[in-house]
Amino acid sequence: MSTFILGIESSCDDTSAAVINETHILSNVTANQGVHELYGGVVPELASRAHQQNIIPVINQALKHANINKNQLNAIAFTNGPGLLGSLLVGASFAKAFAAGLDIPLIETDHINAHILALFIQPKEGTIEVPEFPFLCLLISGGHTQIVLVKDYFTMEILGKTIDDAAGEAFDKSAKIMGLPYPGGPMIDKFSLLGNPDKFPFPHPSVSGLDFSFSGLKTSILYFLRDKTKEDPDFIEKNKYDLCASIQKTIIDILLKKLEKAVKQTGINRIAIAGGVSANSGLRNALLTKQIEKKWKVFFPEIEFSTDNAAMIAITGYFKYIRKEFSEQNVSPYCRKK
Ligand code: KG4
Ligand code: ZN
Repeated sequence: MSTFILGIESSCDDTSAAVINETHILSNVTANQGVHELYGGVVPELASRAHQQNIIPVINQALKHANINKNQLNAIAFTNGPGLLGSLLVGASFAKAFAAGLDIPLIETDHINAHILALFIQPKEGTIEVPEFPFLCLLISGGHTQIVLVKDYFTMEILGKTIDDAAGEAFDKSAKIMGLPYPGGPMIDKFSLLGNPDKFPFPHPSVSGLDFSFSGLKTSILYFLRDKTKEDPDFIEKNKYDLCASIQKTIIDILLKKLEKAVKQTGINRIAIAGGVSANSGLRNALLTKQIEKKWKVFFPEIEFSTDNAAMIAITGYFKYIRKEFSEQNVSPYCRKK
C-alpha cells in the first residue's frame, strides 16, 4: 500500500514542494529567491510575489520527479506558520484550493515541528536509523534557537531558547558586518574551513539555565572590527578566513555548552540537530567528536532537509494523516508560534 502526501513550504523565501510515500521521499523541489541578495535580507513583499510565480512550476516538478499524477495524492500538507504572513498565505491558499479540487484531506503543519520531524525522512530506497523517543533536539534556524525534549512526533517540550537573536541570525548578522552576502551562514561555514578558529577569541554570554543569547556576540564583533579597520582598512579582507572560523567556533561552543547541560539535566544522550544551522559542517564535526568523547548518540537530517524544504512538511503531513488529523478550509496562517 502506498500513501502519497504532497508537502508545500512557503514560510520565508524558499518555495518548495515534495512528495513522500509514507516516510520515503520521492521528490523535493525548491526554488530559491535570488531577488533578496540585493537587499541583504528577505524583503517580505518580494518573497510573496516570488512564491506566487514559483508555486505552480515547483509543484508540477515535484509530482513529475515523484513519477505520480495528482490524482494519486492522498492528502496535501502545507506550512501554516510561523513565518512571513504574505508568504504563508500563498502556500496555504494553494494547498486549500488543490485539496478541495482533488477532494482529499488538507493538513496544516507547524514549520518548527516539521524541522524536527525531518529527522524521520527515509531515502527513496533503503532505510536510515532514526532517533528513538525521547531525545533532545537542538533546533537552530534563522528565527529560532531551542533545546527541545522530543517525547513523540507531536509532543515536545522546550527546555531552553534564545532570549534575543537566533543562531542563524548570529551567523547572518556577523557575515553582514564583514560585508559577506546574505544568507551568511553557508559562507561562514565555507570560509571557516580555511581559517584558524582560535585566532580571535570572542566572549561567551552568561545566560542562566538552558537559554541562549547571541546579541552580545554581534556587538563584540562590530566593535572589534570597527577598531581593527581603523588601524588597517583591509583588516577584514586579510583575516576573513580566521574571522569566520573564530565566529563559527564561538557560536558552536555556545550551543554545545548548553546542550551538555541539557544532557546532564535530563540524562538523555540521544541528541539530534535540526533547522538551517544544522547544515553547518563545523557543528556536525563537533557533535561527532562528542559522540565519541561523551558517548552521545547523534542524529543529523540530510543537508537537503536541514534548511527550509517541503519534504519535512510532507513527512509531518504523513504522521498527521495516519492519525487522521485533518484541517478545515477556514484554517488560517500565523506569523508566530501559536
Ligand atoms: O531553517 P532555515 O532554512 O530557515 C528558517 O526557518 O529560518 O534556516 C536559515 C538559517 C540562516 O540563518 C542561514 O544562514 C543558516 O540557516 N544556515 C547556516 C548554514 N546553512 C544555512 N548556518 C551555518 N552554517 C550553514 N552551513
Ligand atoms: Zn526553517
